[in-house]
Amino acid sequence: MSFSIRLARSAEAAQLARLSRDLIEYDLPWRWSAERVLRCLKDRATNGIVAVAGGRILGFALMHYLDAEAHLLLLAVTPAQRRSGVGRALVTWLEDTARVAGVGTIRLEVRAGNEGARAFYRQLGYREGQLLPGYYEGREAALRLSRRLWSPATEAASQVKALLLNWRPST
Ligand SMILES: CC(C)(COP(=O)(O)OP(=O)(O)OC[C@H]1O[C@@H](n2cnc3c(N)ncnc32)[C@H](O)[C@@H]1OP(=O)(O)O)[C@@H](O)C(=O)NCCC(=O)NCCS
Repeated sequence: MSFSIRLARSAEAAQLARLSRDLIEYDLPWRWSAERVLRCLKDRATNGIVAVAGGRILGFALMHYLDAEAHLLLLAVTPAQRRSGVGRALVTWLEDTARVAGVGTIRLEVRAGNEGARAFYRQLGYREGQLLPGYYEGREAALRLSRRLWSPATEAASQVKALLLNWRPST
């Protein structure tokens, strides 16, 4: 399936909020209102992106950047478009951007019972961490996940390796 990824527009905030309500926050109080999504889209420390095909939104993601870490706040793909690589493409776009911004780790929370999303994140190299009982309105547990994109130590090691590989004895 052919689709492209671009930054979300302010005019799309209400649509993204509805997608969050229906695909992520189902059976929970709706916390990601249109106003909250719009605030995030206008926030310079947050990236909102959409995957689109033929003018239709197939999926979206919101990520907040801190100094050395980023927090993936929302990610969803419409049911009919799942298992076509849209989710992976959205996360890869955000990871590439995070690397450029010098972010070393991406963190997120997922509903503990969301086996599909857990399998998805495992496949993308995310490690499951702490279980947070009652995280969602006291009703449901969350699981913390993270992926280390790079660390200063591995970065330094790869620079040393590159120096050694390029080293030539002076004549
Ligand atoms: C989780 C979600 C974003 C994945 O999006 P997607 O576009 O279907 O994912 P991809 O097609 O890129 O999947 C990449 C790989 O992840 C794994 N994967 C994805 N969904 C999976 C599932 N339901 N069960 C098992 N593995 C899964 C597979 O290995 C898949 O590769 P494959 O299809 O070649 O086997 C999507 O299912 C979704 O929107 N779920 C509802 C909202 C949600 O749970 N969001 C995450 C928490 S905020």
